[in-house]
Amino acid sequence: MTTLQDELIASIRNIPDYPKPGIMFRDITTLLGNPRAFRRAVDELVHPYAGTGIAHVVGIEARGFILGGAMAHQLSSGFIPIRKKGKLPRETVRIAYSLEYGVDEMEVHKDALRPGEKVILVDDLIATGGTAVAAVKLLRQLGADIVAACFVIDLPELGGRAKLEELDVEVRTLVAYE
Ligand code: PRP
Ligand code: ADE
Repeated sequence: MTTLQDELIASIRNIPDYPKPGIMFRDITTLLGNPRAFRRAVDELVHPYAGTGIAHVVGIEARGFILGGAMAHQLSSGFIPIRKKGKLPRETVRIAYSLEYGVDEMEVHKDALRPGEKVILVDDLIATGGTAVAAVKLLRQLGADIVAACFVIDLPELGGRAKLEELDVEVRTLVAYE
């Protein structure tokens, strides 16, 4: 029986020098296209939180939407999208951030959740943590109780996990690339 880590690593594709020279891009499209790996990843991400009253899974555009929708279904929770700027139709809170290979702005609807509601944040990967830290700040502006931040992939050398832990966010990841 293959371990979950072995199965996930075998299903993730590594693309050198994408989208910029020097970046090793960890491509989860092959994991998502593998029915068993996709199911096992989602089940493993959610299992500590089943039955704990998670009101919403919050997914970060774009890859966090795919995992987050499946996780919300498993937990019988709602789903909240954090989107790149300019895509949400009603009033938002917005924040600028930088990531391993660029800069961007993200936003969430102001009325997406009620203060004190329990949420789980999800994305496919944490690298520098710029994206996830910005998402935590947005959710805390809305008064969310962030129970955990979940990622399939951790790149620990880039320090993102440690930044979230400094903000007192529980971090759950499934595989790490040194
Ligand atoms: C990728 C990834 C994370 C982020 C991680 O998203 O899905 O959101 O980078 O990097 P960081 O920890 O250094 O901030 P990207 O902005 O490429 O967006 P996409 O999902 O729309 O491709
Ligand atoms: N987002 C930030 N760094 C990344 C990487 N190395 N692979 C895939 N997505 C990323």
